[in-house]
Amino acid sequence: MPKPTYGNILAGGAAALVLAGGIFFLLWDRFPIDALDPDRRTALAMGETVYRSSCASCHGLELEGQPNWRQPGPDGKMPAPPHDASGHAWHHSDEELFNITKFGLQAYVTETYQSDMPAFEGILSDEEIWAVIQYIKSTWPEEIRRSQASRNNQT
Ligand code: HEC
Repeated sequence: MPKPTYGNILAGGAAALVLAGGIFFLLWDRFPIDALDPDRRTALAMGETVYRSSCASCHGLELEGQPNWRQPGPDGKMPAPPHDASGHAWHHSDEELFNITKFGLQAYVTETYQSDMPAFEGILSDEEIWAVIQYIKSTWPEEIRRSQASRNNQT
């Protein structure tokens, strides 16, 4: 057997790292997110509580949204869309979801836009808003999550 040279050892080490990275990458997506990180589990639990008390009355306990949410109501305003994968929340990046929740849709559309979506600034802390967004995202299938994640990278 040839004596291992410095170069061989380096190459072996690099190969092992690449392999470990690959395995980690494969497992990362497959792990349910709360099995990964106890802090995230805490945030998820907080997010669910916030969702139930602050969002469910309009967006639905099952995140199903209001009936006929694609059509404006008699007052011309849009009903609350679902927050599960059948809605379009996942068309927004994390930052947009945060800003819509904190500042309302006026900040996102125009200042004069009429909407029933309240702004939660001063009502929920930033931590609670991030937690509720995380909770909403946790209900999406992997494919939708991946698609939404690609929007995060664009902003
Ligand atoms: C009083 C009812 C009401 C409550 C409570 C409410 N929303 Fe909404 N929300 C709406 C309505 C109505 C819309 C759609 C408004 C529009 O399109 O004009 C909306 C839209 C949104 C959107 C944009 C969705 C999209 O698919 O583009 C997000 C994000 C959102 N809400 C998050 C939240 C979160 C998070 C909470 C709880 C912290 C919450 N909402 C609580 C009524 C509500």
